[in-house]
Amino acid sequence: MSTERNGKQKNLDDDDLDECQHDNPTFRICCIGAGYVGGPTCAIIASKCPHIQVTVVDVSAERIAAWNSDHLPLFEPGLEGIVKKIRNRNLFFSTDTKTAIREADLIFISVNTPTKSYGFGNGRAPDLRYVEEAARQIAHTATSNKIVVEKSTVPVKAAESIKTILKTNKQPGVSYQVLSNPEFLAEGSAISDLLAPDRVLIGGDETIEGSLAIKKLAWIYEHWVPKEKILTTNTWSSELSKLVANAFLAQRISSINTISAVCEATGASVSEVAKAVGLDSRIGNKFLNASIGFGGSCFQKDVYNLIYLAESLKLEPVAQYWLQVIKINDWQRERFAQMIVQNLFGSVSSKKIAILGFAFKKDTADTRESSSIYVCRYLLAEGASLHIYDPKVSVSRIFLDLSEQTGKTEDELREHVQIANDAYEAAKDSHALVVCTEWDEFKQLDYQLIYSTMKKPSFIFDGRLILDHDQLLSFGFNVFCIGKKPPNNQYMNQSPR
Ligand code: UDX
Ligand code: ADP
Repeated sequence: MSTERNGKQKNLDDDDLDECQHDNPTFRICCIGAGYVGGPTCAIIASKCPHIQVTVVDVSAERIAAWNSDHLPLFEPGLEGIVKKIRNRNLFFSTDTKTAIREADLIFISVNTPTKSYGFGNGRAPDLRYVEEAARQIAHTATSNKIVVEKSTVPVKAAESIKTILKTNKQPGVSYQVLSNPEFLAEGSAISDLLAPDRVLIGGDETIEGSLAIKKLAWIYEHWVPKEKILTTNTWSSELSKLVANAFLAQRISSINTISAVCEATGASVSEVAKAVGLDSRIGNKFLNASIGFGGSCFQKDVYNLIYLAESLKLEPVAQYWLQVIKINDWQRERFAQMIVQNLFGSVSSKKIAILGFAFKKDTADTRESSSIYVCRYLLAEGASLHIYDPKVSVSRIFLDLSEQTGKTEDELREHVQIANDAYEAAKDSHALVVCTEWDEFKQLDYQLIYSTMKKPSFIFDGRLILDHDQLLSFGFNVFCIGKKPPNNQYMNQSPR
């Protein structure tokens, strides 16, 4: 690798790499933010690098207490076993941010970066106050040189802001290298994503010091990731690549969701179209599942992030192009709710509707931007009575999300919303069953039994295309789903209860 210092070209050699402390048994990492990214990422680093001490800190004492307890603050398949094995060995969870910063060689910033909900850029720009706060804490506390790594998804040039804050607030004699190392893990598969990533991306300064910092971070990943999968770029490319990756994935979902509407109107099947199209190796078959719209903490936020960047750069056609990805997502959610109302004879007022799934995808308890919340909001606005069941999402979380969306208090909501202990309880006496999340257990339910307990005619709306529709039709259900024209002769086989 060739780098530049004071305008002079120099080739990095093995002596420089010794500075990487390859054999330093006391290499210490501090991770600020014990959330969905910081927690699982550090658990894997600590488990793969037993000689590195990893301390994850958070301002939330409650969250840290949960990480140190038998009930981790988040559900992620495979995570609990790993954490319990290495916790207090070389993985620590603490609220003592100052000590962790002071002792660390390398600090990950893994805090939340929500979309701004106030002032300039309201609803578009990323809110960087938590990143800024973390940078200030580092600058005020650190008494020795540090590598600071932005792990949270941040807008392009956030590293510049972090550098400025560190530089203007640092203790005398302390120097910093700031790297970008975006995390590509998806919830529900975080552990396998971390163990076998498609790539690890590290962006840094094109200077000797920058290159050494990149090598130190790369050395950590090299404990389990093949070298050829560790990609190094300049900082801005790294920051932008994360936004672009999420925007492209979101765009694929919006693209297939537009086609789902065409299928419903024409008799084509969106699953068949997705399969046929995805077999083209240039297109690929991933992220082509039509749904009630993408959710999660990243896609919408990052597409808005890109839109905001384009607007700031006065690239209006670029901003408009990406805005359509969000608009289609909103439309898909609304369209699905309309499908339910229309097919229940134009009204769901006082009708009991069973909602299966509240999480934004299966295998997580996370509900951030879950499409289920929006579908529930539309149905509540139409006067429906909802019985919600999700295998992992807590009752308090469901009410918090619905309160936020509807502006109603929990007591007001409880007049129209009940939380069921299982899918059978939710379905009993309901007019319709609405699948919002693709949990595996929903595929294995006894739908014949469920049919016998529901009001007639009984309806199923499959927003995730996970059920056996022919079988459901044979049981007597009226079946409606995203991306497929419903059969003409529904309502024919309905036997009274
Ligand atoms: C995403 C990115 O995949 C990950 O790389 C990044 O680090 C964070 O954002 P995540 O939001 O956890 O991960 O889940 P993902 O599996 O991408 O699903 C996002 C949403 O899209 C979910 O609501 C999911 O149900 C939906 N989706 C996904 C579809 O509707 N159709 C698909 O084909 C795939
Ligand atoms: P992500 O999905 O990006 O991991 P989360 O919201 O799950 O986001 O986690 C971010 C975590 O960062 C939260 O637990 C929050 O309390 C924590 N956090 C935010 N700012 C700070 C800070 N200055 N110091 C320590 N922890 C912080």
